[in-house]
Amino acid sequence: MSAPLPSEKALVPFVSVENMMRLVHHIGVETMLVELTDVIEADFRRWELFDKTPRVASHSREGVIELMPTSDGEIYSFKYVNGHPKNMGQGLQTVTAFGLLAEVSTGYPVLLTEMTLLTALRTAATSAMAARHLAPKGARTMAIIGNGAQAEFQALAMKAVLGTDHVRLYDIDPLATEKAARNLAGFGLTVTVCTTPEAAIEGAQIITTCTADKQYATILTDNMVGGGIHINAIGGDCPGKTELHRDILLRADTFVEYPPQTRIEGEIQQMDADYPVTELWKVISGDAQGRRDAGQITLFDSVGFATEDFSALRYVREKLKHNRFYQELDIIADPDDPRDLFGMLQRAR
Ligand SMILES: NC(=O)c1ccc[n+]([C@@H]2O[C@H](COP(=O)([O-])OP(=O)(O)OC[C@H]3O[C@@H](n4cnc5c(N)ncnc54)[C@H](O)[C@@H]3O)[C@@H](O)[C@H]2O)c1
Repeated sequence: MSAPLPSEKALVPFVSVENMMRLVHHIGVETMLVELTDVIEADFRRWELFDKTPRVASHSREGVIELMPTSDGEIYSFKYVNGHPKNMGQGLQTVTAFGLLAEVSTGYPVLLTEMTLLTALRTAATSAMAARHLAPKGARTMAIIGNGAQAEFQALAMKAVLGTDHVRLYDIDPLATEKAARNLAGFGLTVTVCTTPEAAIEGAQIITTCTADKQYATILTDNMVGGGIHINAIGGDCPGKTELHRDILLRADTFVEYPPQTRIEGEIQQMDADYPVTELWKVISGDAQGRRDAGQITLFDSVGFATEDFSALRYVREKLKHNRFYQELDIIADPDDPRDLFGMLQRAR
């Protein structure tokens, strides 16, 4: 005899990769990046409310697997995410993710979703959020060093949120640059393919580094970076994995998400424990200064923080109220009598 169909209480909306792709196109990728930037910023404004902890990381020689939890007291979220720079050589992605939202009052999940695409979108939106407070006014040109999975999202978020209209691309692998240039055609950006990092940053007011290498890499050296630049460093996000020469950090004003996590994982792991940083949420809420003057070097030492995923997950949940880009998954056991779990098991006999 087959088991009866699961009840409403057993079902949790699940957004597959296919449905996420449909949702992004339904909303429009640039609109979604703008909306995500706003919801992430809104949650940065209520930063103090959130439960915060450095993410829980399980390191191996090849990479890292991380869990990123947070809660605002009403809703809880976590993301599972990996970072394996060598995966690409096996035809696998460097970063994959999925995540969940739950109600704090019952502990019941209310959304389960793919987050590989959503992470790329929220990372780009967070970059744009930081840049709108830190980049030189009227920045039109950005450079992207590292043209892998994150690159196009980064380019489009800066365009949609800040109005940059020129992107200069460089990757050690010319095929990656070719791919990014091809994907960015038709979005109204001038795309320049560069063959050296020095050429890529020429004339750029915003430099995004999003390379993946499990080592202390030096994507930018001190002599490459002049004044009046905003650096958005997203690829240094793990112990032993950085992108900037430390001398740049000595000249830059550094802005971070959650200092206890960034001091372990970010570019500032190269610096002493008292290296001064400004928390981005304070800039956003007006408690700290962002860009001070036109000649300053600002650095967003991005590592990715759990509240950004929380915001993105809540955004998706909100969108699902009006669109059916999800399936219902039977993931919560629902016995007739809550104490009769064993009895429920007999339904499938
Ligand atoms: N801060 C965050 O919130 C956040 C979020 C997602 C990903 N990341 C990180 O961003 C980085 C990029 O992620 P991805 O998914 O695009 O990875 P990816 O593997 O798809 O792309 C990385 C690219 O960097 C290039 N590269 C490696 N070394 C280079 C060098 N020395 N100079 C120029 N290019 C170089 C590679 O050829 C590749 O094309 C990773 O390190 C990842 O961990 C950070």
